[in-house]
Amino acid sequence: MFETKVLHTEPASFSHEEQFANTVHKGLSFDKKRLPSWLIFDNAGSEIFKEITELTEYLPAACEFEIIRNYKNNIAELITGDIFNLIELGSGDGCKTRILIEHLLDRKFSFHYFPIDISSGAVKNLARSLEIDHQDTSLKVTGLIGDYFEGLNTIVQGSPKPNLVLFLGVTLNNMDPAAARIFLENLSKSLGPKDYLLIGFDLMKSPKLLYSAYNHPLFEKFNLHLLDRINQVLGADFNKKYFVQEGQYNPITRAVESYLYSTRNQTVHINALNKDYHFKTWEALQTEQSFKYTLEEIENLAFENGFKVVEHLFDSQKYFVDSIWKVAE
Ligand SMILES: C[S@@+](CC[C@H](N)C(=O)[O-])C[C@H]1O[C@@H](n2cnc3c(N)ncnc32)[C@H](O)[C@@H]1O
Repeated sequence: MFETKVLHTEPASFSHEEQFANTVHKGLSFDKKRLPSWLIFDNAGSEIFKEITELTEYLPAACEFEIIRNYKNNIAELITGDIFNLIELGSGDGCKTRILIEHLLDRKFSFHYFPIDISSGAVKNLARSLEIDHQDTSLKVTGLIGDYFEGLNTIVQGSPKPNLVLFLGVTLNNMDPAAARIFLENLSKSLGPKDYLLIGFDLMKSPKLLYSAYNHPLFEKFNLHLLDRINQVLGADFNKKYFVQEGQYNPITRAVESYLYSTRNQTVHINALNKDYHFKTWEALQTEQSFKYTLEEIENLAFENGFKVVEHLFDSQKYFVDSIWKVAE
């Protein structure tokens, strides 16, 4: 069975477009303009992000591939029964998860894979390509298009099976610390005592390495795509030619922060909001943030939000960790 479902639990009066519009208006109205990176992810945004993950300079993806390849057996050992749900929050193209899926199929596990993502293109492509490669196996796939918790709650509420939940990549790194805590606290409340969470963290490393990772031309393309999205969804007249991107590690916030800088004095009109937004020459619009963690901070984060750490899985350079957690009893 290979299928995708669109989740629609939000009230009809509060559509995705309205949420998008409210977020853009709020972010462009701050003294220091700032928009969250989830706005970038439509089908094209997911495609650019996939290209970024294939760059040698972009360490998190290569490191996490190495971890999953080297430790797929350890991950499979977590599963004690032979029937379970493999749930992936913010799956994107799921390319790292495919390694695990293939390993679990080789070991004859019977499981149902649920990739959850707000990017419909990412979920549909992933379900389709798994169907092409695995239609003659026992694999069941239900792709859920929607928010993490809408998806997760739909699955766990209706199923007594144990769950292995994946939250891979730098998705937690992209949340500011307060949002990360709320997210993890909600997650620990949604999971049961038999469930495991495998969660990725990009670790703090030399700011020089971080600089080269976040300043490749593809990163600029990815961040500028945010302006395309606002033009498409809200009928704005951003001109990408008049913005340049730079990413920098900030030792005060402990995050790599990506900015689009306006190369000229300009006013942008957003039709759907019926508003103008002014940018001074070299004014910055923050489009992304990626907080970098130490191991001690990760362990505190687990402990303070209802989890206990079972094991840390590192790449050979210790640039990244996939940490295995259980809900604390
Ligand atoms: C940084 S990418 C990571 C993708 C993938 N896990 C990886 O490791 O390559 C974050 C993913 O989370 C998705 N996402 C962001 N906010 C989301 C939300 N609230 N609910 C579901 N998916 C979300 C994005 O569409 C994107 O595919």
